[in-house]
Amino acid sequence: MKEIHDFKLLASHRHSEHYFTLVLRHSPLSPMPPVAPGQFVEVKVDGEPDVMLRRPISVHDVDPEAGTLSLLVQVVGKGTRRLSLLTEGDSVNVVYPLGHGFSVDLPAASRALLVGGGAGIAPLFYLAKVLKAKGVDCTILLGGRTADLIPVRDEFSPFGTLCLATDDGSLGHKGLVISHPAFNAPYDMIYTCGPTPMMKAVARSAAERGIRCEVSLENLMACGVGACLCCVTDTDQGHRCVCKDGPVFDTAKMGKWMNV
Ligand SMILES: Cc1cc2nc3c(=O)[nH]c(=O)nc-3n(C[C@H](O)[C@H](O)[C@H](O)COP(=O)(O)OP(=O)(O)OC[C@H]3O[C@@H](n4cnc5c(N)ncnc54)[C@H](O)[C@@H]3O)c2cc1C
Ligand code: FES
Repeated sequence: MKEIHDFKLLASHRHSEHYFTLVLRHSPLSPMPPVAPGQFVEVKVDGEPDVMLRRPISVHDVDPEAGTLSLLVQVVGKGTRRLSLLTEGDSVNVVYPLGHGFSVDLPAASRALLVGGGAGIAPLFYLAKVLKAKGVDCTILLGGRTADLIPVRDEFSPFGTLCLATDDGSLGHKGLVISHPAFNAPYDMIYTCGPTPMMKAVARSAAERGIRCEVSLENLMACGVGACLCCVTDTDQGHRCVCKDGPVFDTAKMGKWMNV
């Protein structure tokens, strides 16, 4: 069930010049609706007249007992810059939960690989937490151009084996995530979110190895609910709205997307 809610900003943590986390608290007067890993929110950006549309941001973490929802955000333009200036106690209007999330019903002791790059790291945190609680053996492989472009990496450690890759070798393996030795180990399932070329390379490798794979697409969005068609992607079943039919797609149905 979707809701529009005025959260209160509990805390804003700046990780670097590029990334920050917003921890939002739901009103104690009503319960938060259930949120699945991979779902996203549409955040209203107040105080920036040039930013009229809400901004789609993945759910980074949820604590239903504390009534909090966290967003990990990369500063790329006016909207995200404005969000980075919010301070404790500010009201943040959010439409959520939106879209279809990751499939998490894997048998216990399954081996899952989570591959994230850039802001695509954001939805993998809550996913790793949920998979760990289900007894799934997770390898979490995060990449970025440089070390400071892999935020909150250490927070993933409790949920699986953490592997890192940077283009410049400033942290972990030097090279792309797909060249990390952990990438080619056997897995039952691969999940990925990040830059499109990275996700396509991950998805093609998974297809070649016969491993089920889900990608979380981050197409440009406007309405966020399937009304404006500005976020469509080509799938093997025709055009689909990333906001409503995704953002998570099983790559078994994404041959056209994968091979373009
Ligand atoms: C389903 C979904 C989940 C997302 N989750 C996150 C998240 O968890 N954390 C996060 O930091 N970002 C996430 N994004 C991307 C985020 O929505 C954009 O970065 C944000 O809307 C940019 O707003 P802005 O006003 O700061 O920048 P704008 O001024 O709107 O754009 C600045 C630049 O960023 C580019 N840009 C804007 N949106 C996107 C996009 N979706 N993909 C690629 N380039 C884009 C623009 O083309 C432009 O070049 C997600 C996007 C989608 C669709
Ligand atoms: S953003 Fe409008 S249909 Fe997806």
